[in-house]
Amino acid sequence: MQKIKTGIDAPAVPISYGLVGLIFLVEAALTPANYGRIGLIVVGISFVIGCGLFLRTSLIGKALIWTKLLDEAGVLPTDQALDLGCGHGAILYRVAERLTLPGTVTGVDLWHSRDQSKNSLAATQTNLNRWGISDRTNLITADMATLPLPPAKYDLVTASFALHNVKPTKRREQALREAVRVLKPGGKLLIVDTGHNRKEYQQVLTAMDCCIVQARGLGIDGWWSGPWMPSYMIWAVKK
Ligand SMILES: C[S@@+](CC[C@H](N)C(=O)[O-])C[C@H]1O[C@@H](n2cnc3c(N)ncnc32)[C@H](O)[C@@H]1O
Repeated sequence: MQKIKTGIDAPAVPISYGLVGLIFLVEAALTPANYGRIGLIVVGISFVIGCGLFLRTSLIGKALIWTKLLDEAGVLPTDQALDLGCGHGAILYRVAERLTLPGTVTGVDLWHSRDQSKNSLAATQTNLNRWGISDRTNLITADMATLPLPPAKYDLVTASFALHNVKPTKRREQALREAVRVLKPGGKLLIVDTGHNRKEYQQVLTAMDCCIVQARGLGIDGWWSGPWMPSYMIWAVKK
């Protein structure tokens, strides 16, 4: 597998975890040995571990999750695929490596740097060129809640840690409806996300006459700092 630079998700979070951890550890170093010092060390180390787990999920866990999920769900070489909130292209790459022309994958994004560090169309296009997949990939700047794309065009739609960024709930539901609208009948929707929206997504998809093939938690590879911030996947098929 090629080494690929895909940015840090929600960079403000691991930076603040790391800084808070460091402050507690420095405070511990300056405190005389007593029970208070032990408490400071425990809290400091917990934040540093949280920072490490967050970075691991962003840089390694996500890649492991998607490689396994795409293998399980199956991608045909000639599939037309769409990745919602593609960011630097981590999922575009993993889909494109399974395609041969006329198979293509299109990435849609609004390029928010708060959601992924150094996020921009130019940075992602540079990645696609460097990875040698620009012949099978396209990028579009658009809001996933109002896709400028025709209905029933895609065999596969993916969304990796992107839907929870769409707020409020009504717009997020609209984004999900758009994902289903652009799928061909029989097409697959693969969602990997974190937060408390799993039931919400399943309800919208079921109401839209989609069949949920699988929905499950993703374990330590999807821990955004610890088991209290887990990730899950939903694999649905449009009837
Ligand atoms: C946490 S990043 C994940 C990026 C990529 N899917 C991955 O897993 O590496 C979320 C992405 O969703 C994009 N995004 C957020 N809201 C969006 C919207 N309404 N329409 C399109 N993209 C959006 C952000 O710009 C960001 O690139």
